[in-house]
Amino acid sequence: MTVIDLNWPLMCNNITSSDLEDVIQFLQQEVPILTQSTQVKLFEQEWSHWLGVKHSVFVNSGSSANLLTMAALREIAGLGEIVVPTLTWVSDIASVLQCGFTPVFVDINPKTLGMNTQKVVEKITPQTKAVFLTHVLGYNALDERLLAELEVRKVPLIEDVCESHGATFKGRKLGTFGLASNFSFYYAHHMSTIEGGVISTDDSQLYDMLRMFRSHGMVREAESVELKKSYADRYRDLNPDFIFAFPAYNVRSTEINAVIGRAQLKRLDDNNRIRTANLELFLNHLDGNKYQIDFITEGSCNYALTLVLKHPDPILRDHVMNALRQARVEFRRGTSGGGNQLRQPYLKKLVGDHEFENYPHVDHVHFYGFYIGNFPGLEKNKIFALTEILNALPTTSSN
Ligand SMILES: Cc1ncc(COP(=O)(O)O)c(C=O)c1O
Repeated sequence: MTVIDLNWPLMCNNITSSDLEDVIQFLQQEVPILTQSTQVKLFEQEWSHWLGVKHSVFVNSGSSANLLTMAALREIAGLGEIVVPTLTWVSDIASVLQCGFTPVFVDINPKTLGMNTQKVVEKITPQTKAVFLTHVLGYNALDERLLAELEVRKVPLIEDVCESHGATFKGRKLGTFGLASNFSFYYAHHMSTIEGGVISTDDSQLYDMLRMFRSHGMVREAESVELKKSYADRYRDLNPDFIFAFPAYNVRSTEINAVIGRAQLKRLDDNNRIRTANLELFLNHLDGNKYQIDFITEGSCNYALTLVLKHPDPILRDHVMNALRQARVEFRRGTSGGGNQLRQPYLKKLVGDHEFENYPHVDHVHFYGFYIGNFPGLEKNKIFALTEILNALPTTSSN
């Protein structure tokens, strides 16, 4: 049997030589400032403009964005419950726990991989402080009903868009619907600042709070003159430069990361168009009897191709993994965050060993879902070759 070598990594060339040229040029100044300064501010402004929000706070990772959002929410709303997905990254749940909230879990809608709206609504109680949803692997997780229910019940929405930069709902970018939205610029994502993340919001008070939380809780980080004055007036025994409003963090990034971010943002939309076309091509050529092809792709923008078996078939699953390894196609099983978070030791300790059994849809993805890299330089003929390989694999019923 001839083995086709597709040599297909999860991500490729996401930081280009032209990005590095920008960094070199920046470093060639006589006395470059490298810690958070003008480049960070400019990147935040450009990002806000691209997304369509008033404010953004650049931090050192998407996980830090999650942490700051939850820390600020605790200040604003007090402790209580946060509705979270079972399919997400660990830091979405960890940030909830670290800030003292109680996570309330929801199964996925298999067609979007986001939370099932009906189940979200069922889990909202008077103790709910927010719905913290994740747009998984580029698929929009919002719908009209969810937005309307949250509006009526006055429950804030926090969007994790770490895997979905540029995706839209009804033509409007994800990350503009909630009180705040979190993005990651880790290497594997739509764009990269090496490591990095951002929180975006239209709420000026939240923005100032996030700025303070990013830098030790220092009041001087706030932009509001009135806020700074009110602290200085209330704490006359303190040097206004060193007033710490909250026990907080240092999760700042650097000028170098912001220079890369600014360069990357210029080509994000073009790259995303290619990614969307790649996903369509992949899903259109997969055998719908073996693999799930009915994802809701409208407005989607994926940095990864989703490969989910239609039926729970361990034989096909093992053939898929062998075929991918043989063709040197890098993959991750379980999709976002490795699948059902409730199977993870850090949560079993909290919710018990059997709670995961109540979430069958995420459990299917846990065992029978994969993702594969989707980047602008991916050759179309590789997509055709891979779908041909996958479609030819035997299932349990063909044995
Ligand atoms: C949905 C989601 N949220 C948060 C994160 C955390 O981002 P980072 O890796 O930048 O900490 C990730 C990471 O990959 C993610 O996929």
